[in-house]
This record gives sequence, C-alpha cells and structure tokens, in this order.
Amino acid sequence: MDSFLIEGGLPLSGEVTISGSKNAVLPILAATLLTSETCIIRRVPDLSDVGFMLKILQSLGAEVTRDGDTLTIRAANISGRGDYELIRKMRGSICILGPLLARLKEAVVSLPGGCVIGTRPIDLHLKGLRGLGAQVEVEAGYVRVHAPRLEGQMIFLGGRVGPTVLGTANLMMAATLASGITVIESAACEPEVVDLADFLIAMGAKITGAGSPTITIHGVKALHGADHEVIADRIEAGTFAAVAAATGGEVTLRGARPDHLGAVLDKLQEAGAEIRRAAGVLTVRGTGSLKPIDITTMPYSGFPTDMQAQLMALACQAPGTSIITERIFESRFMHASELMRLGADIAIEGPSAIVKGGRPLSGAPVMASDLRASAALVIAGLAAKGSTQVHRVYHLDRGYERMELKLQKLGARIQRTPGE
Ligand code: EPZ
Repeated sequence: MDSFLIEGGLPLSGEVTISGSKNAVLPILAATLLTSETCIIRRVPDLSDVGFMLKILQSLGAEVTRDGDTLTIRAANISGRGDYELIRKMRGSICILGPLLARLKEAVVSLPGGCVIGTRPIDLHLKGLRGLGAQVEVEAGYVRVHAPRLEGQMIFLGGRVGPTVLGTANLMMAATLASGITVIESAACEPEVVDLADFLIAMGAKITGAGSPTITIHGVKALHGADHEVIADRIEAGTFAAVAAATGGEVTLRGARPDHLGAVLDKLQEAGAEIRRAAGVLTVRGTGSLKPIDITTMPYSGFPTDMQAQLMALACQAPGTSIITERIFESRFMHASELMRLGADIAIEGPSAIVKGGRPLSGAPVMASDLRASAALVIAGLAAKGSTQVHRVYHLDRGYERMELKLQKLGARIQRTPGE
C-alpha cells in the first residue's frame, strides 16, 4: 500500500487545475444504463472509485472506452445483476439500482458495506423505489428490486438528518421512465444532483426543480444518448483552498465553480484566508494569521460534511478554540486521533470536536482511514514542521486525481512511496 512522504513547513503557491467531480460522475455513469444508445461523458477524473464504477457497468454488459478524460459508454445489452464483490466495496455503486429498475424492471445488487464514517443505510433509497411501485426484497446481503411497471408518485424522501444525495439520484433516475409524474419532496440540493439532472435532461428526460428541495419528473417512454461535461469537483477545490490557507501560500483554483463553494469560502475567510474572484478565476491566499472557526456540517448549501476533516486540520493551527460539529454522519472524526499524533489538541464531545489550536504541528507517521480524513492528514503534514508519512493513501486515490503531482506543482515536498 502506497504512502506519501511529506516535508512540511513551506507556503504552497501556484495554479492547480480542478478535476471533474467524483460525486457527480458516479451517478452520471450509472445513468448511462437508462438508454441503449451511446453516451459521451467528458472531464471524467481518473479515480479508483470511477474505475470501480466502470468495471460494474462492464459487468452488467455495457461497452466502455476511454480517451483521456472522455468516456464513451453504450449499455445496449445489459443484465440486472451487478458484480457483487465490486458493488459491496463501493458505496456509490448503489446508484445503479434506480436506472436498472427503470430500464429492465428489475435489479439485484449486494447491500453496500458501511464504512468508517457511518453505517450508511439505504432505507430511503428503498422507500423511494417502493414509492414508484417496486417490490423490494433484502436477503443474505443482497437487495432485489423489481416492478412490472413504475408509476409516478409524490414521495417524501427526507431522512433523520435531512435529504439523501444518492437516494435522490436513484429515485430521480428511476422516475424518468416511470409512467406519470413523480414529485420528490425533501430532495437533496447538492450541485452533483443538478449535474445529474442536466445529463438526464440532455438524454430526453423531463425534469424541473433540480437544486431545490422539490424535484418534478414527467416520465417518458425512452431516453436517448447524450454528450455531457461533468462539473468541477467542489470538494477537491475546497481541499486545495484549505492547503493555501494552512500553508500561508496563494493558490489559483483553475476550473473551480465559486458558486458551489459559498459556505466553504465563507469559513475560510472567517479563518483568516483571503479569497479573490477575478473573471471566474478563484484564488485563495493564506495570510499567515489564522483565526478559530465554528463549523456545523449541513445539507447543501450549508457547510459540506466532505470538507469537515480538511477544515479541522486548518483549525489545529488557528490560535484559540474552534468547535466543529458533524451533523450528517455518526462517526466522521477518525482524522482527529491522527491529527493529535502531529501535536494537535482535540477533544471529542459527542457530535463535536473541540480544537485548541495555535501550537505548531510537528511531523510524524500517520494512518489514513477514509477519503477526506486522508486529505486532512496531507494538509496537516504540509503545514507541520518536519516530515510526515501518510500511510494507506489508497483511501485518497479514491477521490483525488494524482494529488501528490498537483501538490508538487505548488512547490510541495511530497513523494509517493510504493507500498509493500
Ligand atoms: C453522498 O453520499 C456523497 N457520496 C458523500 O461523499 C457525501 O458525504 C454525502 O452524499 C453527503 O453529502 C457520493 O455522492 C458518491 P447521503 P450519500 O445519502 O448519498 C443518511 C465523499 O467523501 N441516510 O446524502 O451516500 C446517511 O446515513 C463521500 O466524497 C439514511 O439514513 O450520502 C447520512 O447520515 C463521503 N438513509 C445522511 O443520510 C438512506 O437511505 C446523508 O447521506 C440514505 C442516507
């Protein structure tokens, strides 16, 4: 397993190109199952999660070819049974359920495993598909959905902590080929849901309201192929913005969508960073004097849970007390104990982390545990004095395209050491 060796303490500056969004492209790839015609997907990031999803599509019978960051996918003859091992390994694969149900009227997938950040239930996904008339059986670790026909309905999809992003995606995709009108209430408003809706509309779906809590889908008989460019990854952009703030450098985020980063940029400004937008180009500058911040993670357009770990790494350096409260997932503080190995002072009190920042961090060997926790450890290692080895960076490769190469271009002293 590869690891990163980082010599920290340098301000990082320059320009980084933001890749296509992991969390937009995964449901969009699943949506290609809704038609037998060819789809072209552009700005596809080279991530292990994307590789997994493409293997799943191929296991279902889709033809996939890749030319740089452009994919050509044709799901002409497909089955409803995915590769269980692959599906079990990646939570995002759950979003093939809706398209397969709509296209084939049945699907069988393995229940996605939980992960370190929480149990990751799919009760809302199943509630949505049942709402369209699907029969759902869960047994022996598999979930089977089937329906002779899908009927549009008004479906409330809100859960105990608010909307579900992939649950909204699954239901929206299934509803495109249902008969009649489906209204999703308490739908997720994330930009990735809007990007999926844009792709579905390009395929001939009739969808209004994406990006708002109420999405209306008028079912159609069939969908055709489409050509779509994926939006920029707002979490990758936010992560590199946090790198600039944490190291006191100045980073231009080429291709980022500032309009998707409102809450993140607001918090970075509160933490003492300078934000500049000129002609659609976003630049973040660390001023070297950080201030403590209070964060509560929320559904979009609130502060995103996927940026919580990265801002905790920043808060470790801000003199004073920061309070970070995680309201979306039940255990998303795995990075705290590893940050403490770098000298951070963090106390976990229920859903909140109390960070007493200001003492300089010093490098040490740390262990990545999940995707965004790994990003937090890299940020802390870049800011810390001395060397930090981040083990198990395969977690990072799930959601960041060649992160060490992008950081090296900003002047970072970071090397990937191949694992045993
Ligand atoms: C998506 O996961 C993202 N993943 C996650 O990003 C992100 O953290 C999450 O949305 C929240 O924004 C992808 O898009 C591939 P949810 P998703 O359903 O859709 C509960 C990353 O780091 N819930 O919006 O699986 C759930 O337990 C990843 O890139 C139910 O209770 O998340 C959680 O507490 C991590 N029942 C909350 O809702 C359900 O049926 C939000 O989860 C579904 C979810």
